[in-house]
Amino acid sequence: MTAMTDTSRPFLNRRLTEFGTTIFAEMSALALRTGSINLGQGFPDTDGPQEVREAAVRALRDGRGNQYPPGPGIPELRTAVAAHQQRRYGLTYDPDTEVLVTAGATEAIAAALLALVEPGDEVIAFEPYYDSYAACIAMAGGTRVPVTLRPHFGESASFRLDLDELRDAVTDRTRLLLINTPHNPTGTVLTRAELAAIAELAVERDLLVVTDEVYEHLVFDDAEHVPLAAFPGMRERTVTIGSAGKTFSFTGWKVGWITSAPGLVTAVRSAKQFLTYVASGPFQYAVAEALALPDSYFTAFRDDLEAKRDLLVAGLTEAGFGVFRPTGTYFVTTDIRPLGERDGFAFCRGLPERAGVVAIPNAVFYDHREAGAPFVRFAFCKRTEVLQEAVKRLGAL
Ligand SMILES: Cc1ncc(COP(=O)(O)O)c(C=O)c1O
Repeated sequence: MTAMTDTSRPFLNRRLTEFGTTIFAEMSALALRTGSINLGQGFPDTDGPQEVREAAVRALRDGRGNQYPPGPGIPELRTAVAAHQQRRYGLTYDPDTEVLVTAGATEAIAAALLALVEPGDEVIAFEPYYDSYAACIAMAGGTRVPVTLRPHFGESASFRLDLDELRDAVTDRTRLLLINTPHNPTGTVLTRAELAAIAELAVERDLLVVTDEVYEHLVFDDAEHVPLAAFPGMRERTVTIGSAGKTFSFTGWKVGWITSAPGLVTAVRSAKQFLTYVASGPFQYAVAEALALPDSYFTAFRDDLEAKRDLLVAGLTEAGFGVFRPTGTYFVTTDIRPLGERDGFAFCRGLPERAGVVAIPNAVFYDHREAGAPFVRFAFCKRTEVLQEAVKRLGAL
């Protein structure tokens, strides 16, 4: 008998079945088909600083990074990442043993989870969560334990962490807390007090922490971003993730990094070397220069996005949405119930025809889909005139 493929067995393995297709593909296709403004996916529609682009061109021309760069990342970038953590937060990292360059934050998340999680380990993540978390926990064989950020309504409506719920979620099988602040999609920035409580819990229960801080420079009003690694007892148990995609508006370059204690960096590197091994050679040189930009760059970048947030928040409020005004990231989560709607999926599927705008139903970021059903996310990392046109169209609702 000849060996045959068992066609009754699905090609996609069991761990990934639930991740077959993403809403982003569906919604972006819908945007294209209907000529809608795409406020679904979070990528800027203008590129980052000209001098940083020129730095990438120079690296390409000079033959820097055109061949495999060093596994941990080029020394110039590791040094720049360490200098950034020092300058910004007073955190000291050794560029040789405590910094690892990755193919975007996406690879950093994957490598960290694949390295640190054993099959059966529980990983606690806030819900709604950035979609790659669930898939990476699954690929690592871990069990995801969502802790739901709860909507608080009223004057300064926002999604907040319930610290008791977080404490209750920890069991003897919990290996790792996967934190994200500023938080996508809610725009919540964890406060110093919340972070201190998370840190205490991690130390008390001896948990590892992976903290996704890719929106560290996008913090508005009087909110502040404090890295979790800065709290007592956290440096040696925390893997901190950053990304040039978000901070410098080069999402296509895929340059990210982790900073952590040497043992954790070594572990994450073991997984990372079999994912991409290395990536983005010439772009690493450019990002090294970008990280050394003066404070004025970071301030102007934040101010620009803050003005865009204000524009979109005002427009959405005017159009009748309930709005959770974000204090971080470039996303705003809305409540569609004031519009007489309840189902974010149906709403987002109909919105392009009704108003020529694409948004994302937050339910895709939840295990408890019903908890996210009435919420819809819009991105405001777009040109002012694009946002103005989107607001005008949404006004027709
Ligand atoms: C919370 C969060 N983490 C990670 C990423 C991915 O970052 P990168 O493009 O550097 O892989 C994103 C992108 O949207 C994100 O929102």
